Amino acid sequence: MTWPPLREELRGIEPYGAPQLDVPVQLNVNENPYAPSTRVVADIAAAVAEAATTLNRYPDREFTELRKGLAEYLNMSGGHGLGPDQIWAANGSNEVMLQLLQAFGGPGRTAVSFAPTYSMYPEYARDAMTAWVAGRRREDFSFDLDHATELVEEHRPSVVLLPSPNNPTGTALPHDVIGTLCALVARHDGLVVIDEAYAEFRREGTPSALELLDEHRNLVVTRTMSKAFALAGARLGYLAAAPEICDALRVVRLPYHLSAVTQATASAALRHAEELLANVDELRRERDRTVAWLREQGFEVADSDANFCLFGRFDDRHAVWQGLLDGGVLIRETGPDGWLRVSIGTPEEMAAFRAALVEVVR
Ligand SMILES: Cc1ncc(COP(=O)(O)O)c(C=O)c1O
Repeated sequence: MTWPPLREELRGIEPYGAPQLDVPVQLNVNENPYAPSTRVVADIAAAVAEAATTLNRYPDREFTELRKGLAEYLNMSGGHGLGPDQIWAANGSNEVMLQLLQAFGGPGRTAVSFAPTYSMYPEYARDAMTAWVAGRRREDFSFDLDHATELVEEHRPSVVLLPSPNNPTGTALPHDVIGTLCALVARHDGLVVIDEAYAEFRREGTPSALELLDEHRNLVVTRTMSKAFALAGARLGYLAAAPEICDALRVVRLPYHLSAVTQATASAALRHAEELLANVDELRRERDRTVAWLREQGFEVADSDANFCLFGRFDDRHAVWQGLLDGGVLIRETGPDGWLRVSIGTPEEMAAFRAALVEVVR
């Protein structure tokens, strides 16, 4: 018997996590580089101070006020008439996704995604004792519906997890793909989870899956306040779905999973949505400039609707990643072999990235 008595399938596994290194330019985890303004910080601090006066009590386990605020926000961001009973939230969309698999996956059930895809999904599946199957995307990272149809028919997944825009490629899914997939997966009573962590960064004309919620009762759309909202440190992810799906998640959530401090912080941030999101347009422009510049340098770059871009291809991507790090710029070694992902930072940070990259590949 080995000690400690870890589950067999967890033995020897390294904990997930991008390196948290103290370097001048951090472009590796798709954060928003703009910190909240003094005004927003003051309002969040006041809301947290107010919440602190009742910290001897457990928080509202149904996070009623926050749900209302999230519904209102989504109705201004692609949703139609969503009510608080169609909203669920947890500590980051990571936790939302784990709860989805705890409720709708589980032993004897299968979750499916299509690679390259968000690297945490297989870990949620493992932790929820759900079988994991990864199909593939086309060479240009677009979605292959024929292949997906075959895979869904073969594995009859209870959950299909798909980021749109996709991490790490930045590729968004068109409505017809999502609609067809929902209909396909519904045949076996499965859910389609469209992970819109980066939705606010999508380009003009790219739709949100929120628009399809009325048509497909098995569609779940997840969002987060970690990216466009510049609130990664607060840990607040959420979803919109049919009320019965949100209701089912109440069974698997831990008691009082959203602390009073988290609820107060997120609600205060939502009151400042306009200001917090004000830098999104600037980041989108910086992204488009970065894509154009990388292409001018002769790199291959995936079209991006997110706040990062995937570029390559390198014979030895680790050497390039390390060279950039040596130059004070931390990006992410992820995605298919030969590619690297850079998050979009401030114009100054992107200038540092460009200078370091030129130096490394010279
Ligand atoms: C596609 C995708 N989904 C979900 C998340 C999780 O975000 P959070 O737990 O901060 O909401 C991330 C984080 O990088 C992501 O890239």
